[in-house]
Amino acid sequence: MDLLRIDGGCRLDGQVRASGAKNATLPILSAGLLTDDTLVVRNVPHLEDVTTTNLLLAQMGVGVTVGDHMVVEVDSSSISSCVAPYDLVKTMRASILVLGPLLARRGEAEVSLPGGCAIGARPVDIHLRGLEAMGAEIEVEGGYIRARSGRLRGARYAMDTVTVTGTENLMMAATLADGVTVLENAAREPEVVDLANCLIAMGAKIEGAGTPIIRIQGVERLHGAEYSVLPDRIETGTFLVAAAVTRGRVRVVETDPTLIEAVTEKLRGCGAEVTEGDDWIELNMRGKRPRSVDLRTSPYPGFPTDMQAQFTTLNAVAEGAGAITETVFENRFMHVSELQRMGADIRQAGNTVIVRGKEKLTGAPVMATDLRASASLVIAGLVADGATEVRRIYHLDRGYECMEEKFAQLGATVRRLRDDAPVTARSAVKT
Ligand code: UD1
Repeated sequence: MDLLRIDGGCRLDGQVRASGAKNATLPILSAGLLTDDTLVVRNVPHLEDVTTTNLLLAQMGVGVTVGDHMVVEVDSSSISSCVAPYDLVKTMRASILVLGPLLARRGEAEVSLPGGCAIGARPVDIHLRGLEAMGAEIEVEGGYIRARSGRLRGARYAMDTVTVTGTENLMMAATLADGVTVLENAAREPEVVDLANCLIAMGAKIEGAGTPIIRIQGVERLHGAEYSVLPDRIETGTFLVAAAVTRGRVRVVETDPTLIEAVTEKLRGCGAEVTEGDDWIELNMRGKRPRSVDLRTSPYPGFPTDMQAQFTTLNAVAEGAGAITETVFENRFMHVSELQRMGADIRQAGNTVIVRGKEKLTGAPVMATDLRASASLVIAGLVADGATEVRRIYHLDRGYECMEEKFAQLGATVRRLRDDAPVTARSAVKT
């Protein structure tokens, strides 16, 4: 199994490109199920979760072609199976995103229940209740969601909790329903808006994406389209935090600074100089130690839970003490005990951690527990004294494209190792 070995102590300096957003790519690829024409998706990041989605679609009989520069063509003209099996769903919860499209297009779907994960219980009850409101009959049996329907009917549905993939599933299902669907308390994340824009390019009639009320007028059929995925705001933010932690300077290009205002506000609060252009953002720490910040995660446009772990690392080396409160997931502090092993001073009380910054962390062997927790450990390794080995980095590969290569481009010493044999490029170990 691969691990990352990071030699700490470098000050990041340079420029890096943001990849396409994972959390927009996964629903957009699933949206290909809604039409029998071809959907061409550009700016697709090279990630394990994308490979899993492609495999999932392929085993349903969908033609998936990955071309140069990660242009992916999805051809769902012949769907031979409406099943998302446990083996794939267990590796990626976002597999649930095929449920709405399959039901809308084929009137049936059988999707393994995703179950819990490291960061919390993560139920899918809102997805299911919303589809039932649109006329689907759903039963959960033997670990599978079995759903059937005639043509779905438009409905008004208020979600109890703001859910990103729930909003996406219901929005996709509603595009082919008979009549108007109104989704209330909808997620406003940029990735929801990106999916809506792709669906609109396919002929869907959607208004209000990006607001809490989305109105979808169902149509008889959708057609093919070409669509380019928006930049990854979480990857962008991760590189900016790494720049702040190492007291360096990093410019992220081919990104969209307007998507991460809640993050840049906190980075300015920690003393960083942040400048922006239309499609780039630069953070310069000018060699200064960052100051601690307090933050509370919440759905967009609030502070993203997917950036919480990275800021925990920032506070761990910052001046002063900061309180970080997680409100989206109930168990998203798995990185805390690993950071403590590197010398961080962190106390947890319920859903809040109090972090007292230290001048230095020390390198140690640590274990990645989930995607963003892994990123926080890599960042900690960049600033720690000595070497840090981050194990179980398959979590990182699910969501960060060529992370070690991008960090190396910024001057860090990060190597991917397997069985004690050093290699530098991911491709070298993917035989
Ligand atoms: C998505 C993102 C993930 C991000 C999260 C929150 C993708 C592929 N993943 O995950 O990176 O961390 O949003 O921004 O886009 N909930 C219910 N019932 C449901 C659905 C959700 O109670 O039916 C709860 C969850 O347990 C959680 C909260 O709602 O506490 C938000 O979860 P949700 O927005 O659904 O997360 P995902 O869409 O799975």
